[in-house]
Amino acid sequence: MTFERNILCIGAGYVGGPTMAMIAYKCPQYRVMVVDVNPERIAQWNSDQLPIYEPGLEQIVRSARGKNLFFSTEIEQGIREAEIIFVSVNTPTKTYGAGAGMAADLQYWEKTATQIRKHARTHKIIVEKSTLPVKTAQAMQRILSAGNEGVKFDVLSNPEFLAEGTAIKDLEDPDRVLIGSEETPGGQRAREMLTAVYANWVPRERIVASNIWSSELSKLVANAFLAQRISSINSISALCEKADADVEEVARAVGMDSRVGNKFLNASVGFGGSCFKKDILNLVYICRFYQLHEVADYWEGVVKINEYQKERFILNMLSTMFNTLAGKRVCILGFAFKANTGDTRESPAILVAQRLIEEKAELVISDPQALRNARSDLKGVDENIAYVEDPYEAAEGCNAIAVLTEWDQYAQLDYARIFKSMRKPAFIFDGRNILDHSKLFDMGFNVFPIGKPAYTHFDADNL
Ligand code: NAD
Ligand code: UDX
Repeated sequence: MTFERNILCIGAGYVGGPTMAMIAYKCPQYRVMVVDVNPERIAQWNSDQLPIYEPGLEQIVRSARGKNLFFSTEIEQGIREAEIIFVSVNTPTKTYGAGAGMAADLQYWEKTATQIRKHARTHKIIVEKSTLPVKTAQAMQRILSAGNEGVKFDVLSNPEFLAEGTAIKDLEDPDRVLIGSEETPGGQRAREMLTAVYANWVPRERIVASNIWSSELSKLVANAFLAQRISSINSISALCEKADADVEEVARAVGMDSRVGNKFLNASVGFGGSCFKKDILNLVYICRFYQLHEVADYWEGVVKINEYQKERFILNMLSTMFNTLAGKRVCILGFAFKANTGDTRESPAILVAQRLIEEKAELVISDPQALRNARSDLKGVDENIAYVEDPYEAAEGCNAIAVLTEWDQYAQLDYARIFKSMRKPAFIFDGRNILDHSKLFDMGFNVFPIGKPAYTHFDADNL
């Protein structure tokens, strides 16, 4: 069968896999190839056990794979055959040298750019899908044009706004698709070509064009704004706990102002995920590079409040459990950084678990999708950790439960049954405010939500 277009994506991760699966699913007339340096990951994409858990993903992969969607390690061949190349490699925070702990590590991205230059023989449209520092497209253009005489490249910025856990819905019905391009005839043609790909299922008015630098920067800023809302409400949760206010009531009242809006105002143990912290720190680094220290300080505050919120949660557990956790058994319900994913990157649960272990607690960790990642995150410190998928079994014999991921099923558990199986006094720390706190209190639990007065039986002296 001949296809209308050959599309390649370099990087078969949380973004590359689902994004390309959606393009292939919506556009049977295109041939979509996803390549990666990691053969294990590619083998998983080609198997029944996909490398990532994402509701709805399996279905669309199954329907397109082998027809017009292919996963492979043949990067060079992929580059030679493609007209449009998406680059979706990881861009983690740098851990070494200048900008360590702040700047984006561009080594994987640069390797890809060099590889494209080396193997391309015909005109290519290069699409930045990874989240990158502003002006990276310029560097990409320079690498591509250095020494590859005769082959022309047009670089577009097309940041991805999907959130994990809702990736398929976000890809199928995005708020917007942003395409940044140069205002040259080649840039405009490239933008039109990419617009035509998305227009197969996204209404044209939601496909937004901008200059390339605005596009790159918009991605960092979108994540910074979203994370800022969480840090804002989390900072207020600390005040609510002191002032006997209820952060959910405050969030509701504030969010009903249509200028503010009601989304992303759920107080929590802290935000996690591979993007927020990394992208804000990258933004901060760029501001510092341009000597905009006040701006940098402002955004750095969002990350600082997040660290503070995680610390607060841990210290609260310690102090309410009589300042010692040594030998106590704590059940962690949820290890993923949010519900409906198995991803644990930057999950608050990692820090909570590490700190509880430092306090010599024994841990039982439960999660419906993230236990494999939890095991690898806690490798080396897991002598006193058990991993148990069944939440009832996990909570048995524990002194406390910490709910760290907002999985729906955790709100539905039979807590009366759980209470009976636990050591007394039994504590629940609801790091996601998903439980019915007064009901738990009536069952006998001492309950510690986020940003609300605690429910304890201690004052009544009835333990
Ligand atoms: P990931 O780590 O899951 O996947 C990246 C993949 O790229 C890995 O499989 C890795 O093996 C591969 N890779 C690295 N170097 C390569 C090379 N030279 N050639 C071929 N393959 C290579 O990362 P991710 O979560 O998919 O994120 C990718 C980018 O998308 C990042 O810049 C991230 O900030 C951005 N992003 C992520 C999300 C998200 O929710 N995860 C959302 C929006 C944007
Ligand atoms: C985020 C952005 O939402 C997405 O647009 C971008 O492309 C990638 O980064 P993601 O990190 O996958 O997506 O999930 P998100 O839903 O944003 O949640 C991030 C973290 O914030 C999670 O730990 C979540 O539990 C937490 N969160 C979210 C809160 O604590 N409170 C909220 O109100 C919302």
